Amino acid sequence: MKNILVTGGAGYIGSHLLNQLKSLPEFHPVVVDNLSTGKRESILHGELHVGDVADTEFMAKLFEKFNFAGVLHFAGSVVVPESVADPLKYYENNTANTLKLLSHVARFKTPALIFSSTAAVYGNLADGVAHEDTPTNPESPYGRTKLMSEWMLQDMAHALPDFSYMILRYFNVAGASLDGRIGQSTPQATHLLKVACETAVEKRAQMQIYGTDYPTKDGTCIRDFIHVDDLARAHIAALKYVLEEKKSQTLNCGYGHGHTVSEVISAVKKLSGRDFPVELAPRRPGDCGVVMSKADKIKALLDWEPQHDSLDVIVKSALEWERKLK
Ligand SMILES: NC(=O)c1ccc[n+]([C@@H]2O[C@H](COP(=O)([O-])OP(=O)(O)OC[C@H]3O[C@@H](n4cnc5c(N)ncnc54)[C@H](O)[C@@H]3O)[C@@H](O)[C@H]2O)c1
Repeated sequence: MKNILVTGGAGYIGSHLLNQLKSLPEFHPVVVDNLSTGKRESILHGELHVGDVADTEFMAKLFEKFNFAGVLHFAGSVVVPESVADPLKYYENNTANTLKLLSHVARFKTPALIFSSTAAVYGNLADGVAHEDTPTNPESPYGRTKLMSEWMLQDMAHALPDFSYMILRYFNVAGASLDGRIGQSTPQATHLLKVACETAVEKRAQMQIYGTDYPTKDGTCIRDFIHVDDLARAHIAALKYVLEEKKSQTLNCGYGHGHTVSEVISAVKKLSGRDFPVELAPRRPGDCGVVMSKADKIKALLDWEPQHDSLDVIVKSALEWERKLK
């Protein structure tokens, strides 16, 4: 059995990963989470050690005790507008704390790390589609903190031949586990689908559409939504790949096609049966019109195919979760 460190396992994406690891007894997940945004009850599998990735003594003890075969590093701060208002919080929790984690990985010779990165590293895209080798040019402090972490991983892998990484650049993660047990609880989330579902169940009085004059079919932005359970399975495939192939890679995690903001809101209205108020607001600075992944590399490299590539499935699961959270 391989001990796997999962940082941030009480959070949205980490908890879905743990839920799927349940069926793989060859991995024993050891979760580190400070419960700053995550919830203890979201962890359906694995042993939780409450603590901070930044706590050097606490982390060193765990590395010593468990001799990890790999690390899945989800812990971080995720709200893009907050990163603009409080950038140092993000450089601290995303970049500096990843550096601290990597120093344990190097010291204890952990062979593999899977890193939660983001499509935000690409920034504005000329044609709206990001290939893994599209030049990076993040627009937000959040994106920059993630890109800096990517650079650290790449430099570390050059210096340490026995270390390999997988950088997973997530596009718009959405939905909730189909068994209805876990979903997104991130406080102050600004993610479109989360906000739309919160409005549908009357946790918000109304929501905004930012920009209706983009060069898209209905004038609203297009995003590439990936169901969180598909993303969780991509992590397991990535972990197996890195452990077996011992090669470092960077992969987009999206479906390779998108939906407009208006289409998403219409789907939430249809499936919730509620015609909630939507205000049309001007474009937000820094928003790109179209952000979609070129999704060929992940399918070619990993033993992975999407299973929930349907806006209705994504919206239905997110709505069910939001109602439960009420
Ligand atoms: N949600 C998305 O759409 C999205 C998109 C791209 C990338 N990501 C990345 O995926 C990862 C997980 O995101 P999420 O949506 O699950 O967020 P989340 O806030 O739900 O989960 C983050 C978890 O990390 C924990 N945590 C934060 N800082 C910590 C620290 N210093 N020490 C220990 N635990 C800490 C939190 O308590 C929480 O449980 C993040 O790194 C995020 O940047 C998320």
